[in-house]
Amino acid sequence: MRNAAITGWGMAVPERVLTNADLERMVETSDDWITSRTGIKERRIVGPNDSTTSLSVAAAREALDKAGLTADDIDLIVVATCTPDQFLVSQACLVQAELGGNAGAFDLGAACSGFVYALAVGSQFVQTGLHDRVLVIGADTLTRFVDYTDRSTCILFGDGAGAVVLEATDAPRGLLSTVLGADGAGNKHLYIPGWGAFVPESAELFPEYRPYLQMNGQEVFRFAVRVMGDAAVEAVAKAGLTFDDVDMLIPHQANMRIIDAAARRLALPREKVWVNLDRYGNTSAASIPIAIYEAAEAGKLNEGDNVVLVAFGGGLAWAAGAVRWGVEGVCRDAACRQRPVVVSEPARALAGAVPAGTMPDG
Ligand SMILES: CC(C)(COP(=O)(O)OP(=O)(O)OC[C@H]1O[C@@H](n2cnc3c(N)ncnc32)[C@H](O)[C@@H]1OP(=O)(O)O)[C@@H](O)C(=O)NCCC(=O)NCCS
Repeated sequence: MRNAAITGWGMAVPERVLTNADLERMVETSDDWITSRTGIKERRIVGPNDSTTSLSVAAAREALDKAGLTADDIDLIVVATCTPDQFLVSQACLVQAELGGNAGAFDLGAACSGFVYALAVGSQFVQTGLHDRVLVIGADTLTRFVDYTDRSTCILFGDGAGAVVLEATDAPRGLLSTVLGADGAGNKHLYIPGWGAFVPESAELFPEYRPYLQMNGQEVFRFAVRVMGDAAVEAVAKAGLTFDDVDMLIPHQANMRIIDAAARRLALPREKVWVNLDRYGNTSAASIPIAIYEAAEAGKLNEGDNVVLVAFGGGLAWAAGAVRWGVEGVCRDAACRQRPVVVSEPARALAGAVPAGTMPDG
């Protein structure tokens, strides 16, 4: 069975830091309230020179470097984001424009669960044999849509991007199991109003619409505690593992109380749970790949380790997977990295049969 090993990882966050002390000066809140209710101490906020593109590109370049690849080696770029810089074209094409190459490129929208969804999609392309190398990016700049007079949401979010490179291997590496779920009826609990409501014609029709993130915190909290535990347990079971086999839990970084609840369900001690939300807050689709990056760079992920990823967010959606860390079986020599450009048989036949600039019948 072909698998998709993670062979490169990268991350990027803006330089600008927004601390709890800064927020105390902006809204009626306190460091003590934010820390005890969420675990967050500070977050990174995009400045005038940052964008979802710039953060994605920086993370992607680092991931490619770590994998020893260039953009030309990549077959497909998938960007998970709910805050693309443009609605047309895709965020993935904007990233590719900077990186170079001709890989297929598209976006995937599953909000904070987006990276795990995208990892599942990217891995499928490798597992089926359609592609050999896929770049998966999770990137969001949600603070552009946060109302900094609303204390119930502005304390939570930060910006960032994380990326991984997937490469084919016959060894049991990469995503071993996938759990994807959604409860679309819960869309009203966490959303950003659509731009359809902001065209001049509709401003009068929708006077109450504001372009800011809206959230029912308590409802999302209850949902998160339930699905994070359930999805993580299911991912472990589907991979044929036991809780004892889990070396690291990398959860979506939204709230320390939610992370603790998920860890308890897997009976994992704190040292086996990667936590960085104190420094970045909730970076949406970037949260898990940034945590993967930090755990890998800290030397906490070793060849053959079992890592459980679990995320939740707007949708309401959730996603989890068990990943076997390491690069066993991945081709590393130059010869097998040089691939001829393959023209499929139907394309070749079409090229011969149809004069340029005309459409074939039927
Ligand atoms: C947002 C969240 C931290 C709020 O914590 P909570 O314990 O549920 O707090 P509540 O909403 O019940 O509010 C309790 C009180 O604190 C107040 N409060 C809200 N935000 C506050 C803030 N930043 N500072 C001080 N007080 C605040 C509320 O107004 C309320 O006051 P009241 O009792 O006088 O009405 C929590 O619900 C949460 O983390 N939910 C999940 C959100 C999430 O993860 N979203 C992203 C998903 S990807």
